[in-house]
Amino acid sequence: MTRREFTKLASSAAIAAGASLPACGPTSTVLRPDTLLDHPLDGAPLRDALLAHAALAPSSHNTQPWRVHVESPTRWIVGPDPLRQLTAVDPEARELVLSVGAFLESLVTAANALGIATDVEVVGTARTGSGMVAVNLTPSRPGNSADLERIRTRRTIRDGLRPDPIRSADVAALLATSGVHSVFFPSGSREARWLVDSELAAFTQQTWRDDAQKELSRWFRFSEADVEKHRDGLTLASMQVGGLAGWFAAHFMDAGSVMGKSFREKGIASASRQVASCGGWLVVTAPDESVPALLDAGRRFARVAIGLRERKLAAPPMSQTMEEEPWKRQLVKELGLPGIPTFVLRVGYVDDYPDPVSPRRALPSFVT
Ligand SMILES: Cc1cc2nc3c(=O)[nH]c(=O)nc-3n(C[C@H](O)[C@H](O)[C@H](O)COP(=O)(O)O)c2cc1C
Repeated sequence: MTRREFTKLASSAAIAAGASLPACGPTSTVLRPDTLLDHPLDGAPLRDALLAHAALAPSSHNTQPWRVHVESPTRWIVGPDPLRQLTAVDPEARELVLSVGAFLESLVTAANALGIATDVEVVGTARTGSGMVAVNLTPSRPGNSADLERIRTRRTIRDGLRPDPIRSADVAALLATSGVHSVFFPSGSREARWLVDSELAAFTQQTWRDDAQKELSRWFRFSEADVEKHRDGLTLASMQVGGLAGWFAAHFMDAGSVMGKSFREKGIASASRQVASCGGWLVVTAPDESVPALLDAGRRFARVAIGLRERKLAAPPMSQTMEEEPWKRQLVKELGLPGIPTFVLRVGYVDDYPDPVSPRRALPSFVT
């Protein structure tokens, strides 16, 4: 299933569920939230629409490390897939939980838009435990259907961020969405300058760390055949490698190339260009590192992410300062953070907003 087919499934299933239809529109053949929750297995469109939207959430290295167990029509159990943990860069499984949080936020937002109220209950406190969250679903009034479009058109943009200052209305919106535990540092501030230097230094250190690079190589998809086979990971298109370089990489590079000197040096050069160009940095923190706090931070990040396009903003995460020592240890003090950092986002305006290209796995691979 290609990215296009996947989003088509999300949108057509949403339409079948009545999301974009006028109130009097649906006929008896169209499945509605109230009937579908009673007969989820007969009428998969709504359930599939929900799951397909949830799975469009961002995740580290696009590992899509979530699993959903449909315990009953109205109670789903969501948790991480520990086999998809990035053990070299995320040995403590923080990003694993943050990614599940992002998935939850997309699920809840899509459910609201489709006319399903959700009650989210954290039921497990182990970071790699499968039964982490119970989501109880009840029919309700459809919310804002524009949210479905926001989820479907969100993507990570890493290149082309302009250095212009971020307008105060946009900073206020970012902070309002990312919650009380977040801080924005405009470019040029002492903290932003520290982040520019530290991100690049941490990125460089991680790039030369063989175990981290080996892990990256396992999630890199160079050829179309690889993308089709896995439907996850980092593709050339999602990393914005196009033109001749993209053609060359697709035809002549593989996992082995990621371990080579030239690949590493090019990655560092590109990171060096990227950190130098943005309007500021948003750091999303959490009050502690418990599972509920990390899930909540992942949810707040996903909420920020789906609101970026309408402001022509990009906010790619750069996680290396939170993954590598000594920066990991220094972050809170150097930046005077009010909590534990969970996302460091480089924020900038972009001229063009390309469509999403990052692939997604088919539903049966993560739903039981
Ligand atoms: C917890 C977390 C950490 C991430 N860290 C990085 C990062 O360090 N660098 C980066 O370029 N993208 C990072 N991302 C973004 C993912 O790579 C991106 O969401 C994924 O490839 C899917 O692509 P999409 O967002 O365009 O759908 C991170 C995302 C999450 C949820």
